[in-house]
Amino acid sequence: MTSAPVQEGVIDLLVASMTWEQKLAQLQIAFRPRLEDAADLVRSGIGAVFWPRSAASTNELQRIAREETPHGIPLLVGLDVVHGQRTTFPVPLAQAASFDPATAETDARVSAHEAASGGVNWTFSPMIDVSRDPRWGRVVEGFGEDAYVNAVFGASKVRGYQGESLRDRDSILACAKHFVAYGQAEGGRDYNTVDVSMQRLRNVYLEPFKATVDAGVATVMAAFNTVSGRPAHANHLLLTSILKGEFGFNGVVVGDADGVVNLLDHGIAEDLPDALLQSFAAGLDVEMGGNVLSDDGRLRLSPGDVPLERVDDAVRRVLNLKLALGLFDDPYREADHEVTTPSPASRRATLMAAEKGLVLLKNESVLPLGPAPKRVLLVGPYAESTDHLGAWIQSFAEPTGSLADAIGEECPEWSLTVREGTGFFGGQSGHIADAVADAADFDAVVVAVGEPSALTGEASSRSDLRLPGAQEELIRAVAATGAAVAIVMFNGRPLVTSGWIGAVPAILEAWHSGLEGPRAVARALSGAVNPGGRLPMTFPRSSSQVPIYYDHENTGRPATVSGSLDGAAVDVALMGPGNTDDHYTSKYKDLDLGPQFPFGHGLSYTSFEYGDLSLTHSRITMEDLRAGQSIEVTIDVTNTGPCKGDEVTMLFIRDLVASLAQPVRRLRGFTRSSLQPGETITLSFELGWNDLGFWDNEGLYIVEPGAFEIHVGGGLDDTRVFNLHLRP
Ligand code: GLC
Repeated sequence: MTSAPVQEGVIDLLVASMTWEQKLAQLQIAFRPRLEDAADLVRSGIGAVFWPRSAASTNELQRIAREETPHGIPLLVGLDVVHGQRTTFPVPLAQAASFDPATAETDARVSAHEAASGGVNWTFSPMIDVSRDPRWGRVVEGFGEDAYVNAVFGASKVRGYQGESLRDRDSILACAKHFVAYGQAEGGRDYNTVDVSMQRLRNVYLEPFKATVDAGVATVMAAFNTVSGRPAHANHLLLTSILKGEFGFNGVVVGDADGVVNLLDHGIAEDLPDALLQSFAAGLDVEMGGNVLSDDGRLRLSPGDVPLERVDDAVRRVLNLKLALGLFDDPYREADHEVTTPSPASRRATLMAAEKGLVLLKNESVLPLGPAPKRVLLVGPYAESTDHLGAWIQSFAEPTGSLADAIGEECPEWSLTVREGTGFFGGQSGHIADAVADAADFDAVVVAVGEPSALTGEASSRSDLRLPGAQEELIRAVAATGAAVAIVMFNGRPLVTSGWIGAVPAILEAWHSGLEGPRAVARALSGAVNPGGRLPMTFPRSSSQVPIYYDHENTGRPATVSGSLDGAAVDVALMGPGNTDDHYTSKYKDLDLGPQFPFGHGLSYTSFEYGDLSLTHSRITMEDLRAGQSIEVTIDVTNTGPCKGDEVTMLFIRDLVASLAQPVRRLRGFTRSSLQPGETITLSFELGWNDLGFWDNEGLYIVEPGAFEIHVGGGLDDTRVFNLHLRP
């Protein structure tokens, strides 16, 4: 957790000299928008505050803490720096689409530098809640449906925020959230019930948190939801036995905003003191909301309500972090060095991140449009909208321009005509006919649609995943003109496109891609950049098809098409559309099988071909594997197309027979490669004990002998398969 050697002596002396009230005051964080109110809170001894919006204000609060409180304990200063402070990076879901963890680490590094310069020393990020239900608005904040992708990206963000040492001036505490399984909220309704088996809890939801703990994350935030009946905020099994005990987490567990207060509505606490008591006893260390002290300054917990050693442990954890950050030596920031606007370098970094997150969903010879002079019609609510920063962006983030602005700058040879056609929420559909009447006269029509960021993020679940308002009507109207059409989608979750996808030849998924998102899209439309991103979440055919995800169990009656593709029987549940002649199988009678676009889907302006797969072992014993022997998997990939491009190569395993039903695929490795036309590279992956096993319902990790399939290629529907035999 901390790289600095902890000076236990200092901490022990301090804890021994603190009163009960002073200890409890360290175990909460509160937000007071007015500086004078925050100052009063600090004088009362509170250990942490939300960022007061400037280095100067933060310095004043730190000064009060250092000079006007009995022990002069400096403050933790927290803020949700989720994907940017002044320079906004693409939303985390878009970063996951890059399948390039360095993108996330760069975001975290730049964000930490900018936030730390203002006095922030704690961010409530990364969010690593695996979710398979795009109705849930918070899918935008995480890294998609796969546990391994969330684990890799979460660990990268931790390294980016915390740097080589927490004492570095540009390092801030990271916070893995929300512990745990928040992404399985029933019905995709935020804050709702989660009831999950132990095997799924460990194989899917806990894996990313273990990865961030192993990466040294300093804090973890408890989730709002129950986990199999017990709210996470008061769940001793989760917070203490698994997180602190089994995972060895020695940092701070912080509650979510009023998550302790919510225990009353959960119906597991009589009153606020009871809620606080249950939470701290379960392993919570810091309450978020300032409810430990009542407004008149009275403590809500008396000595003995919570075992003193538990309180002292929590205080030590908090003070250890303050020591590791170097706050006891110097909690102040040079106010005139505060970063308040993006630098050219940070703009370049977020532009690259936005370009890497673009996913070409469909392209029948329309894109790229090329830089040469041409008449282009740009229509749709996102033609001139500047709503590209996405969820969790603060008021002080640098604003961005529109797609129309970016095209004007990046495609100067184009003659651009811009018409809105319709708004986000309909009502203006009467403009559609006017907007598209002469569409066929243009060389190309770009339709910029999407969901406004206000429909994404916390407390923003949607029951209908289609484009809101009359946007589908606009798309169909443009398609009906026979013009060369390209759709660009700006959204924060998988959307349903089935109402119009058959009518259009090209779709570019652009997400809410941050400060330079519009520029990235303009460059992709012209061909200056070749999209190489892949979907980190499955796109369903219908809102009622969710949850839908790639690493599903096969079930006892999988629906498959009996036909074939290039002579090889395919499992259509993986491959997508196609009806089935199997009656008694798992499917909807009124919907084609499989998703609209599967996890990992993404096209390119070029093409790639894979060579043969080879493994160092086609058979290996359990004993060798347990002893640390690994299997090296290698494959060649070649750019066989006309231009430079990035290819994401993925490695999946399938355990064909096991004591628990296993997913039809599990991602265990991925890499993104840039290849010039004609270039071939050899990629290698390692598979070991920790890749071939699974957790059972008794909480044991087991590897079982038998046959495995190793799939490697450019995604679910494009892999070379190798059979591996694990001998007893
Ligand atoms: C919110 C979110 C959490 C965030 C916290 C502080 O309710 O659930 O992710 O970090 O409050 O803003």
